[in-house]
Amino acid sequence: MAKVSIIGAGMTGASTAVWLAGREIADLVLVDIVEGVPQGKALDLYEATPILGKDVEVVGSNGYEATAGSDIVVITAGMPRKPGMSRDDLLTTNAEIVGKAATETLKYSPEAVYVILTNPLDTMAYMTLKVTGLPPHRVVGQAGVLDSARMRAFVAMETGISVENIQCYVMGGHGDEMVPLTRHSNIAGIPLRDYLPADTLAAIVERTRKGGGEIVNLLKTSAYYAPGAAVAQMVEAILKDKHLIVPAAAYMQGQYGLTDMYFGVPVVLGRNGVERILEYELDEDERQQLEKSAAAVRETHEALKRLMHLE
Ligand code: NAI
Ligand code: 2OP
Repeated sequence: MAKVSIIGAGMTGASTAVWLAGREIADLVLVDIVEGVPQGKALDLYEATPILGKDVEVVGSNGYEATAGSDIVVITAGMPRKPGMSRDDLLTTNAEIVGKAATETLKYSPEAVYVILTNPLDTMAYMTLKVTGLPPHRVVGQAGVLDSARMRAFVAMETGISVENIQCYVMGGHGDEMVPLTRHSNIAGIPLRDYLPADTLAAIVERTRKGGGEIVNLLKTSAYYAPGAAVAQMVEAILKDKHLIVPAAAYMQGQYGLTDMYFGVPVVLGRNGVERILEYELDEDERQQLEKSAAAVRETHEALKRLMHLE
């Protein structure tokens, strides 16, 4: 059985574990700094496996030894947003936490693929790459699967059509400047732009961009069920070498005219992590939106570089 370690056994970490246990694709290790929490959540989840009929081991730990030999390390450790906060407000606190989680896990799992969730997402993925020195294909950030799922859900709510028939693609940074691609999104092959009135589609785009904030305002903390499900889908694609195309934060090396930054783009996910980045044909409006989003991500990357004295 493959092994997946989840660093941060809070709301998103635990939700990821639940979704993964249900898929029966890996033994799971939960790590957190709070004593008792990873152990308690791991035992509780393991006690659910007889009911689920899934044979997976689930262990919890406050140390990193238990993560040894992981195929995938998922990093969710760090602070979530409170109402009124942007994802970027989390930078100072989370950079230190994610940096430590990445370097400590790498000692025990030198072959692992890293899936990052902690915010500010694109910049935490960038930092993981820089502090570990891993090849870029082995560090990927989760944002686009979630943002696209939110858009798909909003289209389903509006149309009453099955979520299975709705394909949406959101590119760009995981912030309010993200770029829902209405031209590439469709309902059973029918372009969204042909199916929905323009004002309805514009409202869905806006709600998607603010989807994280909508949940924060309701819950007073950030979302966890859908983020966990998004990570689980990415983990499965990697472990099964599916070559699944999803939007995810990947290291840019000239694609879309961007270099040395993490950014949400369509990637092919397989056993090596990011097997390939796809480049969509974009029109002028889409290109401008992407540039705006890239500028926002670059600003946070620069703040990180100053904070961590990174090159
Ligand atoms: P949470 O507060 O429920 O859990 C975070 C956990 O990290 C806590 O249990 C805490 O004890 C642990 N932690 C803190 N420092 C640690 C360390 N040094 N080592 C190990 N564990 C440590 O927060 P939640 O809701 O799970 O969110 C986690 C992060 O994920 C936040 O930064 C949040 O903004 C981000 N997030 C990102 C999403 C995305 O789409 N990329 C979606 C949802 C959340
Ligand atoms: C979300 O989009 C806060 O990034 C988190 O729900």
